[in-house]
Amino acid sequence: MNDIRGRTTKEGIRIYTEADFAGMRAAGRAAAEILDNVAPLVKPGVTTAALDDFITAEVTRMGVISATIGYKGYKHASCISVNHVVCHGIPGGKVLADGDILNIDVTVIVDGWYGDTSRMFVAGTPARKAERLIEVTHESLMRGIAAVKPGNTFGDIGFAIQSYVEQNRMSVVRDFCGHGLGLVFHAPPNVLHYGRPGTGPVLEEGMFFTIEPMVNLGRPETKVLADDWTAVTRDKSLSAQYEHSVGVTADGCEIFTLSPADKFFRTWE
Ligand code: MF3
Ligand code: CO
Ligand code: CO
Repeated sequence: MNDIRGRTTKEGIRIYTEADFAGMRAAGRAAAEILDNVAPLVKPGVTTAALDDFITAEVTRMGVISATIGYKGYKHASCISVNHVVCHGIPGGKVLADGDILNIDVTVIVDGWYGDTSRMFVAGTPARKAERLIEVTHESLMRGIAAVKPGNTFGDIGFAIQSYVEQNRMSVVRDFCGHGLGLVFHAPPNVLHYGRPGTGPVLEEGMFFTIEPMVNLGRPETKVLADDWTAVTRDKSLSAQYEHSVGVTADGCEIFTLSPADKFFRTWE
């Protein structure tokens, strides 16, 4: 085993070992499979609580553990963020209507490893501008991921995301970020979805983290509702998010949360 592994950088970022990738692969795959399986249930007339109930049942069926139930008092197996909800939407009685867009975010623990992923879903048929928002958000994540390789910096990832989003006249949320993960849910570093090239910590092989850009059609500002979880756009504009968990390899990265059914991007088709 390479002895520069299993250490922590000066920024407090843990460097995992080659063997640890297998743990993340299993956890990421389980989370992604749950999102694959919930896709057919997303349609007009269904409540977000019903989607979360299905996800809870999937967690049990697969013999994995929900990372969000009991996390800081959160009570659900998913966050479901509809339309102008940016993130951390609480599943409940809201009935989906035709054209609603929603992010479903699931984190599970498998043998101690955390797999964290989210995607966009649509109830019925999306409006063209909603579909464009979803396309730009997905592409921004993939461009961020393309910047992941040893020697690049976290600022390079943020820059790739921000510059693409702003070229498309949309905005990147600043109030929430990606995070290190692995044997814990949220660890250093904060993975910002905006930034300047060459700034921030240098990426090293063995770093595990999420990239999870939230993109708004309007302004980037958010506020958290009185339930202390639900984050919404201040201007009520539509918001979208995609999230992958990744590990830095010798020449790029491995995406741990790829969709086994190849339904990551256009879940509704
Ligand atoms: N899965 C979210 C993330 O991407 C965190 C959800 S925490 C919860 O980091 F408590 F709101 F579920
Ligand atoms: Co995350
Ligand atoms: Co998540």
